[in-house]
Amino acid sequence: MSESLIEVVDNAGIVRLTINRPKALNALNSAVLAELERVLAGLEGRADLRAVVITGAGEKSFVAGADIAEMREKTPEQARDFARQALDTFKRLETLPVPTVALVNGFCLGGGCELALACDWAVASDNALFGQPEVLLGVIPGFGGTQRLPRRVGPAMALDLCTTGRKIDAAEALRIGLVNRVMPQAELEGYVEELTKQLGGNGPQSVRAAKQAIHDGMDQDLDSALALENALFAFCFAGDEQTEGMSAFVEKRKPNF
Ligand code: HXC
Repeated sequence: MSESLIEVVDNAGIVRLTINRPKALNALNSAVLAELERVLAGLEGRADLRAVVITGAGEKSFVAGADIAEMREKTPEQARDFARQALDTFKRLETLPVPTVALVNGFCLGGGCELALACDWAVASDNALFGQPEVLLGVIPGFGGTQRLPRRVGPAMALDLCTTGRKIDAAEALRIGLVNRVMPQAELEGYVEELTKQLGGNGPQSVRAAKQAIHDGMDQDLDSALALENALFAFCFAGDEQTEGMSAFVEKRKPNF
């Protein structure tokens, strides 16, 4: 693996990003965040993009959090700016128009858990460990965890995790809905490859519309959100995909999107 902090592999619009700081268990420092933001900015607006996978280098850790050594000496203003850099970067990731998958191969703590929460999918190895241990360091989650965690797992479990700082295993993460799937580590890569192939093989316009309806609708009242769904549903009939998808069904063949 080369020296870049974010490794990028592009396989026909299925883009895999690897955070490459394994000696520090892929902890997020300013340099990693800046590089991640640069890479994500380059993906925005790409019509051929089908899915994005994000993972950590090595088998031990996805991301073990924000870089504690870097944060230690920060003033409140510097801490706010550091967290703001991550909030902006994670927002870019969250609002990519295609499905995003966190491939969690080990420690997924603090800012790492917050990174996974900014993805649509989280797929974890059975030895993965999750948590928001910030209170053990005298701080709170600052990369979006206090807001995205309750939205994903509900406020009671988010409060539990953020106030105890306890770590949970992959089985519990699955049970509370923090992750979508748990696999033996040896099968994780193959599973994510199949998943992204499946996502990439579906109609790209409708996959994007489904993501937009869910993401944008979640922040709206139900009537506005249903109106959004209705508009996006109609929009699906404006392109070739719906004709191809429905014709393929009627003609008893596979659609070619
Ligand atoms: C900086 C880190 C790090 C981190 C690990 N390392 N986590 N460096 N920031 N978050 C470094 C260690 O210092 C060590 O470097 C190397 O990675 C290997 O870690 P070890 O501790 O030796 O490994 P191990 O004994 O296997 O323990 C793994 C671990 C532990 C349980 C994950 O490293 C750990 O508890 N890390 C901190 C987890 C955490 O609290 N994360 C939340 C951070 S706060 P050396 O040089 O000694 O080999 C956060 C806030 C987000 O994320 C919002 C802020 C605005």
